[in-house]
Amino acid sequence: MTGDGTNFIFLTCKRESTPLLKDEMKLRFPEARFSYSRPSFLTYKLPGAEESESAEALFVRAGELIFASSVSLSLGKIAAPAPEEMPARFAEFMKTVFPEKFRPLADAFPAPSRVHYWTPSDPAPSAASAAATARLADSLPEHAAAPFPFLPPREGELCLDCAAVAPTEWHVGIHPVAGYHSRFAGGYAPLAIPTDGTSRAWMKFEEGLRWSAFPIGRGSRCADIGASPGGGSQALLARGAEVLGVDPAEMAPIVLRNPDFTHLRGKIGQLKRKLFRKTRWLIGDMNVAPNYTLDVFEELTAAPDVEIRGLLFTMKLFQTELAENIPEYAERVRSWGFNEIKVRQLTFNRQEVMLAALKHPFRPKHRSR
Ligand SMILES: C[S@@+](CC[C@H](N)C(=O)[O-])C[C@H]1O[C@@H](n2cnc3c(N)ncnc32)[C@H](O)[C@@H]1O
Repeated sequence: MTGDGTNFIFLTCKRESTPLLKDEMKLRFPEARFSYSRPSFLTYKLPGAEESESAEALFVRAGELIFASSVSLSLGKIAAPAPEEMPARFAEFMKTVFPEKFRPLADAFPAPSRVHYWTPSDPAPSAASAAATARLADSLPEHAAAPFPFLPPREGELCLDCAAVAPTEWHVGIHPVAGYHSRFAGGYAPLAIPTDGTSRAWMKFEEGLRWSAFPIGRGSRCADIGASPGGGSQALLARGAEVLGVDPAEMAPIVLRNPDFTHLRGKIGQLKRKLFRKTRWLIGDMNVAPNYTLDVFEELTAAPDVEIRGLLFTMKLFQTELAENIPEYAERVRSWGFNEIKVRQLTFNRQEVMLAALKHPFRPKHRSR
């Protein structure tokens, strides 16, 4: 039980990552007892002890889970014989069960001001999920109802979660907004590839840049390793960055036409390190095993004259067993002097995860962005 009296949590994730999240929970939350799962949805019972951590501390720890798209403190389950009856059951739940369950948490959190409704196995926002959210928002406690339930909330606001595991099985919970993904229902980054986007990779790097909150902007010097055809580079260029794109394969013409882009055609191992003397940010997306990616980044960050402030790169999980090694991979990056590291399976990562690493504070020997 959290110090605040709630003793179930539910987590959602990508369908194919359900077993990976289960393994991760064993490692990171050994005190939590697995209770129930459906594809993309897991519930756990927390131990019942007064001295256990507060709900706030629990959310901090849960926010570091790599494979969880969302984490909620559970307030209860709603079921009905037919889907049409669910909104009325929800309204009833909010009138009767919610006030009682929320009372012990009221010192730690503000009243919920948003509703997040989603289907864990298919969390992409849709007209149907927007309509459902609108209906449910009417049932928020009166004093808490926010005027704009669809705008992303601000840090610290509380969301009332409604995970529709099945049309007649909804799990209701809460989570405080902390970090990029927790602002969106089910932790699903609502991004759509721009019309001039050259690859799906635009979405994962746009998402990665928002999630990492790296201060990459006008004039930031970046290298994109494994850049072809160029979606990731486009996300950097749109911020005004100067990009060296490394790849033996061709870049899309629209990327090549950008005056801030330079194609270094070849494999990273074939290029002289002095080309990266001014580079501060390394982005990477090579379709190779994680250890190879790490070797490349280690060698680059350690090169004399190269001073890297931040890294943002994918690690491919060609075999699911590789997921076990992620903590070790993160430690390896830490040993290169990056003190802020996070890893997450992003909305637009498939069989891979994204690692973001920062040197903070950063004191370059040469002045450059
Ligand atoms: C998933 S694709 C990259 C997609 C790209 N990031 C985008 O935004 O469109 C992987 C790329 O890694 C490149 N690659 C693989 N090994 C490489 C290496 N040693 N050096 C540079 N690029 C490499 C491949 O040529 C391939 O184009």
